[in-house]
Amino acid sequence: MANNEVFSVEQIRAQFPLLQPSESKQPALVYLDNAATTQKPQAVIDVLVDYYTGYNSNVHRGAHRLADQATNAFEGARSTMASFINAPQKEEVIWTRGTTEGINIIANGIVKWLKPGDEVLVTELEHHANLIPWQQACEKSGATLKIAPINELGEIDLDKFQALLSPQTVMVAFSHVSNALGTVNPIVKLTKMAKAVGAWVLVDGAQGIAHQPVDVQDIGCDFYVFSGHKMFGPTGIGVLWGKSSLLLDWPVWQTGGEMISHVTYQTAEWNTLPYKFEAGTPNIAGAIGVAAAAKWLMDIDYEARHQYEAELLKYATSEILKIPGVNVIGQAKQKAGVLSFTLDQVHSSDIGFMLDQQGVAIRSGHHCAEPLMERLGLSGTARASFSLYNTREDVDCFIDALSKAKAMLC
Ligand code: ALA
Repeated sequence: MANNEVFSVEQIRAQFPLLQPSESKQPALVYLDNAATTQKPQAVIDVLVDYYTGYNSNVHRGAHRLADQATNAFEGARSTMASFINAPQKEEVIWTRGTTEGINIIANGIVKWLKPGDEVLVTELEHHANLIPWQQACEKSGATLKIAPINELGEIDLDKFQALLSPQTVMVAFSHVSNALGTVNPIVKLTKMAKAVGAWVLVDGAQGIAHQPVDVQDIGCDFYVFSGHKMFGPTGIGVLWGKSSLLLDWPVWQTGGEMISHVTYQTAEWNTLPYKFEAGTPNIAGAIGVAAAAKWLMDIDYEARHQYEAELLKYATSEILKIPGVNVIGQAKQKAGVLSFTLDQVHSSDIGFMLDQQGVAIRSGHHCAEPLMERLGLSGTARASFSLYNTREDVDCFIDALSKAKAMLC
């Protein structure tokens, strides 16, 4: 199907084998854990099978046809990802294991420049992956970690964010979309504010990449990181995009094969971009798979998809609020994909368990954002997270299952 003809959730959903009804799936699966990982369309599964059955080989170093074929597919995948995020150069696309590794590469390297008196600014919304690496960088360097607060809706307080910026701010790191609350942050505005004091900016795009168009040049950030598996690609692959002017100087992460240009028994010189950050045999299938996912996504009209997803979230929010005792956590004006909630007197893990018994997959707990939960005075939430293949029927099943769970638990 040409996905861009018109947005049809039935046609989209039909491309996901795992979502198809079958006798072995009883009760029928209602998959609402898309912020944790998305399901994979046949187009992605096919390229993985093609690679392993047709041209499995290592890349860059073989003197044979299979190696050439794998290298072409692998480097072609890099070019696809560069187009997907409008990177000026494909060499700025570094393959990683995922968002977490991308942030760690930057946070580990920044220690070379950080010194006591310098500041790193993150926000109260952050996932542990965009918090702990900066804690570590500050601990190693003596720099200070500052935390920009959110308001009662779960949005970054822009005045307070501004007040925390100063010439001492070396790095500002924030999420594109909050995994715990669904808040879509004004990343262009935040980047502009940080740039005005001369700071570097890293955007954690883990939750943004599947819901928002990403143009790194338009955002104006220095680094944008994301994972393949949250955008319909395989696990274990991600992208760190960074400006080449910075990456060329940035300290290397892992060392070993491929990331060198010349080695003696005593010394080593680093390879050029992107290879200086890609030690060892890369995740070749993952790279080919995530590029297939990007192509698949680019083939779907963004506006139509965005409108569909926004309406689905609005519908789910209005339906859940009809259940007495439900509290929606995170009511930002701009939200994507996530409906976090609590039910009076019920632990979030009990909600998750009761829904699972009825075939509805959600996530419960602190969502790897423990400080945020503490800030909100909660031990955790239940979280339904939506993707472009979810339907109003999925929402109805979820609401029905939640009502039944409430009747049993309260
Ligand atoms: N970070 C992922 C989530 O929010 C795993 O569920």
